Amino acid sequence: ALLSPAEKPLAGRHVVVTAGPTHEPIDPVRYIANRSSGRQGFAIAEAAARAGARVTLVAGPVGLPDPPGVTVRRIETARDMLAAVEAALPADIAVFAAAVADWRPAEAASLKIKKDGSGKVPPLAMSENPDILSTIAHRTDLRPGLVIGFAAETNDVLANAEAKLARKGCDVIVANDVSAGTGVMGGTENTVHLVTKDGIEHWPKLPKDEVGTRLVGWIADRIGKS
Ligand code: CTP
Ligand code: CA
Repeated sequence: ALLSPAEKPLAGRHVVVTAGPTHEPIDPVRYIANRSSGRQGFAIAEAAARAGARVTLVAGPVGLPDPPGVTVRRIETARDMLAAVEAALPADIAVFAAAVADWRPAEAASLKIKKDGSGKVPPLAMSENPDILSTIAHRTDLRPGLVIGFAAETNDVLANAEAKLARKGCDVIVANDVSAGTGVMGGTENTVHLVTKDGIEHWPKLPKDEVGTRLVGWIADRIGKS
């Protein structure tokens, strides 16, 4: 059946979504990671595909299946995630829902690091990872028309989100409280606040699928007006 534009409001658009954690290798058997489940980013990708968009989902290591109708690029590290996002451009909309590791072990050992029996611990020097959202939002060529970041905060949620909006050069920050007892990272529900230069929208606590559907509806409205 032919679908009306109202049913496929993102038809003809390309949406790039990042999701999940990254893994930063220490040696061939160990890595640094975080508690991201990838659920929110996968839900956004799936909702965007349902809305008619062509969707590229760049996903860190999670056990979730490919959402229907979505092209999925599976990566491990932050640097691989940046390369996969750049390879996916141009895009009309980019949503950075991944919990990218801020730092990586400066040099991954090529062989398993062994205890030598002396009680000495490995020093584990760290390097800063590229900021994927900030890199893409500040590109003078190929910047998607709408760039959306997330901010998982344990405290001063809205103030931190407003600072991130300015610092990262994005159009929207979807802020959520991940302090113990609220949004808890890895859970199935999310309470988010949409922070833009025009103000803040507070959404009720919703299943992550529903946050995805509503966010895609919000994006479609905003694209429609531009
Ligand atoms: N992000 C990214 N690349 C990074 C770090 C973060 O693309 N290396 C993106 C996330 O996907 C998210 C946004 O930036 O959309 C905010 O991530 P967050 O971790 O909250 O911000 P940071 O700037 O890393 O600040 P901090 O962790 O210190 O709060
Ligand atoms: Ca971070």
